[in-house]
Parts: sequence; structure tokens; C-alpha cells
Amino acid sequence: MGKAVRLDKFLADSGAGTRTDVKKLIQKGMVQVNGEKVKKPELKVDPENDVVELGGERLGARAEFMYYLLHKPAGYVSATEDTREKTVLELVPKDSRRNLFPVGRLDKDTEGLLLITDDGQLAHQLLSPKKHVDKTYFAVTEGKVVPEDIEKIREGVDIGDEELTLPGKLEILKTWEVQMPSASVKSTESEAKWRSEILLTIHEGRFHQVKRMMEALGKTVIYLKRMSMGPLVLPEDFPKGQCRELTKEELAALKEGR
Ligand code: URA
Repeated sequence: MGKAVRLDKFLADSGAGTRTDVKKLIQKGMVQVNGEKVKKPELKVDPENDVVELGGERLGARAEFMYYLLHKPAGYVSATEDTREKTVLELVPKDSRRNLFPVGRLDKDTEGLLLITDDGQLAHQLLSPKKHVDKTYFAVTEGKVVPEDIEKIREGVDIGDEELTLPGKLEILKTWEVQMPSASVKSTESEAKWRSEILLTIHEGRFHQVKRMMEALGKTVIYLKRMSMGPLVLPEDFPKGQCRELTKEELAALKEGR
């Protein structure tokens, strides 16, 4: 036997409308419980065992938790509220009954994959330093990333914390020289003229970690985007600013890694 709830609450929680909307639907005779038309919004139903139908369609109990994949654009802070800045929660479907929050933080100027949920336990596990969940970032740097940097990242780097970072995986995708405007300084072999595109996979989530790791190697991150977190991958065709529920497969993969 599940926990009994009022019929109008059950209908509203199932997405049938506001409490006022669903009372009207009940009065119109559109709701059946266990095959019987009911007219009382206060009737108690057991969401696990009673069959509640609206207009002939069975309604399910509300999912316990929600899980959203957000393609975070730059310009939003990873917080639930902020008095001055736009927050990532503004990009998620409104649901006043849930305490949704972002799992971990991306900087205001960082783009890419962000998981939003109200499942505190899963979030805790994904963020736990012991779990070492892989996070892969695409970055553009000012300064030339060289093969020796791959080795340094593999050994862990000193970013000013008590401990070196855990070993990471660095891949150099592209390196090119930027044409300086003619009015600029004399053409010297200045590092600032070089740009690189990299993929960096890390297993921790320290504050500004990617930017600080690259800074430790003498390069400045000028663009940063998270491509994946554990088994979750930002789909290529998923536009910036969009938010959707995780698919069943994505959620299963995420929970499997527990
Ligand atoms: N590392 C950073 O430096 N910034 C982010 O937003 C995420 C990882």
C-alpha cells in the first residue's frame, strides 16, 4: 500500500493542470478512479495501486526526481538564485514543487554540459572526490600547448593548492599562429601570438581547475566548454541554451556508475 494523497493533488502533480484546473476536470466527470467516475477532489487515492484516468488516459505517479541536461551558454551563473546575474535555473522548465539545482559548477563564461536535478544523493556521488568522475573539456588557449605539456598534465600539476592535481589527460587538437594587427608591437616570437585547441580530461572539480591547470603551464584559457561528465556526453546537435530531460539510457548509465 502506497501513501494516499488527495485526487486533485495527484492529478496536479501528474501534470494535469493546477489544482483549480483539475477540480474543474473532476466536476466535468472526466476523471475515473479504478474504472468509476468520481466527482470528489478530496477523495484519497493510492498512487501505486489505484488506476487514475483522465479522459480515458492513465496517469502515472510523479517521478521521484527529475534530471535535465542543459547546454549552458556563457553569461549564466551556476546557482539557483542570484540577485544580479542570470542563473542556469532560468533555462530549465519551471517546476515550483521541486528544488532543482546544478550538479557542480561551471564558471559564468564557461559553456557546455551541466546536469540539473533534485536528486541530492546522485549529485553528491557524482561530485564526490572519491568517485573520480571524468569530466572532459574543450578549450582554446592563448599560448602554444606543446607535447611536453601532455606529460606534465599526466603527472599532475601544481595549481597553488596543497596537493598537485590528480593526473589528467591532455590532447592537442590544433595549434596555429594568430595574425597580429599591423599597428601592434614588432613581430617577435611572442607566446601571445599562438593559439591551441585542446581536450582536457580531469577527475576532480576544484575551483577554476582547467583554467588554473593551463595557467600552471603558462597558457591562458580564452574559451572553455564542458563536453562530458561521466557517461553523459553533450550531443553535437544540441543547441546552446537548450534543456531537456535525460533519456532513460543516459540516466541508467549515470546511475550505474554509482
Ligand atoms: N574548470 C574551469 O576552470 N572552469 C569551469 O567552468 C570548469 C572547469
